[in-house]
Amino acid sequence: MTAPLTLFHISDLHFGLEDRRALDWVREAIARERPAAVAVTGDLTMRARHREFGAACRWISGIGAPVTVEPGNHDMPYFNLAERFIAPYRRFRAIEGLLERPLELGDLHIVPLQTVTRAQWRFPWVDGWVREPALARCRAVIDSLPADSRVLVTAHHPLPEHGPGGRVLTINGEGAMAQLARRGVLAVLTGHVHDPFDLTAETAAGPLRMIGAGTLSRRLRSTPPSFNELIVSGREVRVKVRNLEAVPTAAMQVPAVPAEALPPREPGKPVAPIGAVPPVDPPVH
Ligand SMILES: [Fe+2]
Ligand SMILES: [Fe+2]
Repeated sequence: MTAPLTLFHISDLHFGLEDRRALDWVREAIARERPAAVAVTGDLTMRARHREFGAACRWISGIGAPVTVEPGNHDMPYFNLAERFIAPYRRFRAIEGLLERPLELGDLHIVPLQTVTRAQWRFPWVDGWVREPALARCRAVIDSLPADSRVLVTAHHPLPEHGPGGRVLTINGEGAMAQLARRGVLAVLTGHVHDPFDLTAETAAGPLRMIGAGTLSRRLRSTPPSFNELIVSGREVRVKVRNLEAVPTAAMQVPAVPAEALPPREPGKPVAPIGAVPPVDPPVH
């Protein structure tokens, strides 16, 4: 049996509204503990501004461990629709080689699954969509691996398709989950909702583990800034939610995949963090 591997799963850095203290702390932990890899599951920036991408790419380039990066819905150009349609990933060019790349760690593989889109038939374009070409690319990587390989899939959006009140969350998420479950994927690692979770979903092809990381930004939902430490031993994946407040993992993890990245607005109360969100930013996640 191979030795256990430690991975760091970080997400939703949201440069522009990043938490400097949290980022410094993660950076020190990576340098000290040297995880086998770092998976970044999207939303590197707040509004995909050039200065936000500059800061995010510098931070990610300095990680000093094998890294794979997923794009998030916040990373698609907001203010330049022509660029969004023609070259949506151009602003990642400083870390181009890390974007959506599969990682091989012995017989453990991290395989990306794209869930962001240039546009959708619904608005706003914040929720996920597993488009068939993206799923085909993910499937092709998994199916090319030796039969006993261990696979973790990384995506930005959690894959559940239906939220409260029948709202559609990730389009084609259900089908994607069944295909990943059928292939024995150990877990799907995601971000987007800013609270950590560790849940198992039933799919048409059996159970599928879903592991969500919190945020390293000041755009908090209900938990302090955090990241996930994953220890993979055989086919077992242990999750520790690390945070600066020393909140135990079980208390950090929310009991269901949230439909939104921010908590519901209470009457008369602005969405947290008060005063930290630039007034030009609309209240979407
Ligand atoms: Fe986010
Ligand atoms: Fe997101």
